[in-house]
Amino acid sequence: MMTRKPIIAGNWKMYKTVQEAKDFAAGLLESLEKLENGTNAEMVICAPFTALAALKDELEESIIHIGAQNMYYETQGAYTGEISPLMLTELACTYVIIGHSERREYFKEDDALIAKKVKTALDFGLTPILCVGENLALREAGQALVFVQGQVENALRELSPEEIRKIVVAYEPIWAIGTGRTASPQDAQEMCAAIRATLARLAAEAAQEIRILYGGSVKASNIAELMDQPDIDGALVGGASLDFLGFTELIGSV
Ligand code: G3P
Repeated sequence: MMTRKPIIAGNWKMYKTVQEAKDFAAGLLESLEKLENGTNAEMVICAPFTALAALKDELEESIIHIGAQNMYYETQGAYTGEISPLMLTELACTYVIIGHSERREYFKEDDALIAKKVKTALDFGLTPILCVGENLALREAGQALVFVQGQVENALRELSPEEIRKIVVAYEPIWAIGTGRTASPQDAQEMCAAIRATLARLAAEAAQEIRILYGGSVKASNIAELMDQPDIDGALVGGASLDFLGFTELIGSV
């Protein structure tokens, strides 16, 4: 069976000043040193744009990857307030979250825009973390699987199998984000298996290589049972990634 390297990615959302980011980075590096059994997980910190330069200084030479939480699909131009992929790679970003449910909900990002962003991220050597997930109404109506598989298809259908091979997908049920109500390992596995089946339809050879993360109230006490699931390869962590000791404990549980 294909072994996929797990990823634990922290999504800070709209938290942390530059100084707080520096303090976090220094603390995380120090606490990782003390991890008894280390970790076999790839670690990513997805910070606000304003903190990326500081994280580049602190982490560029470390094993911790730097990520952004969004980007535009043009490289430059009259797009007030936007950030280009070139600006992210200049700041040592190697990952970028695309299509987070908060971007889809609050900033009305649709599948077509998200597909363009995924393609551009790949064109510039960034690894997109494509976020998908259903709301509670869809879950309760039994439409979650079809809805999420549609999100994956719509984001990736124009890509080649070789491009699809490079992405990471994060399944984040909206009703689990920030609520403390984590999806059951069984429900999360069912969805991640459905996502992998969709990936196999789009890129048969690559599907087994693609890492699929779970996000939504992940913490050190529940990460292990989620990671025990065959199609869950890591986590996209919000609240529990804001404190470096808690994040280290979570990483150490993988
Ligand atoms: O992108 C990760 C985030 O949406 C999950 O947030 O606070 O439920 O871990 P949280």
